[in-house]
This record gives sequence, structure tokens and C-alpha cells, in this order.
Amino acid sequence: MALLTILHDPDPRLRIKAKPVASFDAKLKRLVEDLFETMYDAPGVGLAATQVAVPLRVAVMDCGSDETGPQKLVMVNPQILEPADRQEMEEGCLSVPDYKDKVPRFNRLRLKALDEHGKPYELEAEGLLAQAIQHEIDHLDGKLYIDLLSSLKRERYKKKRAKAEKHAA
Ligand code: NI
Repeated sequence: MALLTILHDPDPRLRIKAKPVASFDAKLKRLVEDLFETMYDAPGVGLAATQVAVPLRVAVMDCGSDETGPQKLVMVNPQILEPADRQEMEEGCLSVPDYKDKVPRFNRLRLKALDEHGKPYELEAEGLLAQAIQHEIDHLDGKLYIDLLSSLKRERYKKKRAKAEKHAA
């Protein structure tokens, strides 16, 4: 296993639309393991392959808590069905460090995807898990949650980002 480098906005590779996975081989299994290791190390509740410069439709998540224990989930070629109950939800992203904001998300949905072995599954999700699924699938489409902000809030974010870049330079 290996820790991968997480790309940060405005890296153009975060804007690539990922391609569907066609071969469920050792390379894919390795990618899934590395995504989990990188996500837990960050730490975060989700990580998409596009965030580590791999343009394939793969993402991992763990929305478990102290009460539930770990809830590892692998999504390959995911699809959202029956989204419902739109709400404003607070969100953050490992590729958008030091920023959080509210964005509109569906509170309930059905996920249709494949696991890392190519086996299809479906599940009902709500709350944080439903939110994470939408967030990760957006990554696979080259979108970031900051795209969902109002233009005023997006300007505020860009100013903050420019300031941080100046400090880092
Ligand atoms: Ni993210």
C-alpha cells in the first residue's frame, strides 16, 4: 500500500471527467487500497480517484462513526437513482483545504455501483452517506463542491485561496 498525493484546487487534473472502469484487475485492487490508506491518513470520509490524478470512475468512502465502527464503501462506475429531499448541507473537501460551506444536496438517494471485483450492488443512502456519494461522483465528473456555491461565496473562496497561495509561495 502507498500514500498518494491529493491534488488541490485549482489543479486542472481535478477537472478531468473520469472514464468508466473496464478491467477489474490487480491494478484496480491496488488503487482501491491506496485510496483507503490515503483517505484515512488525511483524514477524510471520501476520496475519488480523480483527486489522486487517476482519471477512472472509482471512489472510496467511510461514513462510519465511533458508534457504528468503520463502514468502508467502494464505488466503481457509480450512478445515482431516485434523488430526493434537497437540503442545504455543510461540506468540505480534501482538495479544497481550509474551507467549508453549505451547498444544496439530496438527503436521500439510491446508489447503483460495482464493487472492486466488478460485482454490482445497490443501496439506499441518507444524510452524510448520501451527501458523500454525491460529492464523490461530482469529483468523477470533474466537479468540485465549490462550483455549487453562489457567485458571491465563490468570489470569497477565491480570494481566500489567492491569499493562501501567496503565503505558500
Ligand atoms: Ni472532495
